[in-house]
Amino acid sequence: MPPVESDGKYFLSYENIHCTVRSMAEAITASGFDPDLIVAIGTGGFIPARILKTFLGKPIFTVGISYYGADNKPAKTPRTIQWIDEVEQKLRGRTVLLVDEVDDSRVTLEYCLRELLRHGPAEIAVAVLHNKNKEKRGCIPGEVHRYFVGENLEDRWICYPWDALDIEAHEMTARAAATVPRA
Ligand code: G4P
Ligand code: MG
Repeated sequence: MPPVESDGKYFLSYENIHCTVRSMAEAITASGFDPDLIVAIGTGGFIPARILKTFLGKPIFTVGISYYGADNKPAKTPRTIQWIDEVEQKLRGRTVLLVDEVDDSRVTLEYCLRELLRHGPAEIAVAVLHNKNKEKRGCIPGEVHRYFVGENLEDRWICYPWDALDIEAHEMTARAAATVPRA
């Protein structure tokens, strides 16, 4: 369980994230799933996908899905703002590992999986650093049989190091905070 700060948020250090990705990569390899390519959902999935590449050695494609409008409130449905060039050629008959940092509402993940499935991949698996244990509004389509999660967490806000304005303070908090969640 990652450290929780006194205000109830999880604080993740880069080292913690690297170790979580390494254990996910080990689980992926042990499962026998050998992806041809990684698809990273931006922007939160970029750094986890890059670390996975260190362990799995597969190329990364990136997609951008926006679920939040200008007012920072969820829109009705997610929107594709960036997609894979010549997607048909890249995905048809291939095995794909879709990577994001957090499975929260699951709405973006479901949207992205359905979009990717339209292009006839042989298999798509999902890998997320963190899954929040909560009621989900989206679902993983039935065609997707493998879901790899680094850690299952309580429904608390997760502070990732790449969002930190003061990374030294963030890393210090992540190291100093208690490892047991406080109410
Ligand atoms: P999901 O389908 O993958 O569950 O994601 P969902 O659309 O519910 O999430 C909406 C946005 O909120 C996502 O970012 C997600 O990364 C972010 N988010 C959800 N919970 C947390 C959290 O605990 N901590 C942080 N830091 N972010 C969280 P996004 O709008 O797609 O943008 P981006 O940040 O990935 O660029
Ligand atoms: Mg995200």
